[in-house]
Amino acid sequence: MTDRFIPIADARYAAAVPTIPVDAPVPAGRLLDRRGRVLHDLRISVTDRCNFRCTYCMPKAVFDRDYAFLPQTSLLTFEELTRLVRVFVAHGVEKIRLTGGEPLLRKDIERLIAMLAPIRTPAGEPLDLTLTTNGSLLARKAQRLVEAGLRRVTVSLDALDDDVFRAMNDVDFPVSSVLEGIEAAAAAGLAPLKINMVVKRGINDGEIVAMARHFKGSGHVLRFIEFMDVGASNGWRLDEVVPSAEVVRRLDEAFGLEAVDPGYRGEVAERWRYRDGSGEVGVISSVTTPFCGDCTRARLSTEGKLFTCLFAHAGHDLRALVRGGAEDHQLAAAVGQIWNRRSDRYSELRSQHTQGLPKVEMSYIGG
Ligand code: GTP
Ligand code: 5AD
Ligand code: SF4
Ligand code: SF4
Repeated sequence: MTDRFIPIADARYAAAVPTIPVDAPVPAGRLLDRRGRVLHDLRISVTDRCNFRCTYCMPKAVFDRDYAFLPQTSLLTFEELTRLVRVFVAHGVEKIRLTGGEPLLRKDIERLIAMLAPIRTPAGEPLDLTLTTNGSLLARKAQRLVEAGLRRVTVSLDALDDDVFRAMNDVDFPVSSVLEGIEAAAAAGLAPLKINMVVKRGINDGEIVAMARHFKGSGHVLRFIEFMDVGASNGWRLDEVVPSAEVVRRLDEAFGLEAVDPGYRGEVAERWRYRDGSGEVGVISSVTTPFCGDCTRARLSTEGKLFTCLFAHAGHDLRALVRGGAEDHQLAAAVGQIWNRRSDRYSELRSQHTQGLPKVEMSYIGG
């Protein structure tokens, strides 16, 4: 078979139906890309909808009442998703993160978790199965998520100050409800619990020390994320990025920090701990210190398109293969070919020649 890509017209974003290589062997074991990076994480967006309108992610001016979210029929079903996850796991994926939009808005998400939780790696190990949420529905759902088999969770929280938080989520959502969600998640046994704070200069950088003080000693790991130029609608400007080095300096002055070795190769967050032993924080520096060299992540959009970079402008339409009757070994061969050809390293190239290129939105592809 040839390497021809068949463009499809109804795609939201550019996408091609992957070819199924008939002559290529079905991949066995781990997949390597052109830069020698294995495929280890799959991040799955289960809905492109969200009840927040964070200004850095789904600005109201774009994601308004007229915005055409994906129709129900275009979403991968839980059965389709589970089948794809099995194929990915058979070829090296060990970590699954459910994202959105807001994943807890997806109807019956507990059912999907219950379907994914029993899946084992070829070595017989359970998956690192987790979820990124804005926390708004967590107080209500934490217990059921745990019962379904979820092991840990990451909650996005950009400020403790209620006015600042309401302004950032832009739907006037109170911070107290997210804090209740975090408590409920901890009480239900989801651990380690991570809190992600996107920092924008002049908007919430005044909250850095207060957030650290709040979570210091709680056992939860707070991570500060540099505001990124994902998507095409968040009005990104370099002068709104607070470099992680500055965050670390401020926390060191306030509390005293020391560096911690990475937990595993390719860890996104750089780890630090409080000198007084009261816990750990992290910084995620995709703008000032890109980590593409160790990037082992693939992303599956809500409608089943595989993206090999957060900043990609085109995906690979796995749903077309699944709904077209492809067998597991054919799906595996197609995914293997896509990963083998991957050479993405957007964050490393960012400043050079990638500005202004079309990019998918993070709410569609998943954080
Ligand atoms: P843990 O195993 O829980 O630490 O997960 P993680 O390190 O993968 O981090 P998480 O999923 O919480 O990601 C945190 C944030 O880092 C995301 O919301 C993004 O802002 C950023 N991020 C994660 N993966 C990538 C990536 O592949 N590229 C870039 N540029 N940013 C990423
Ligand atoms: N920059 C950095 N992180 C972002 N996220 C969404 N948009 C951006 C952006 N522009 C991440 C945040 C949030 C998660 C859902 O996606 O970490 O917590
Ligand atoms: Fe929703 Fe998360 Fe995006 Fe905020 S960052 S709009 S909570 S998906
Ligand atoms: Fe991976 Fe792309 Fe992020 Fe680089 S920019 S770390 S290649 S997802």
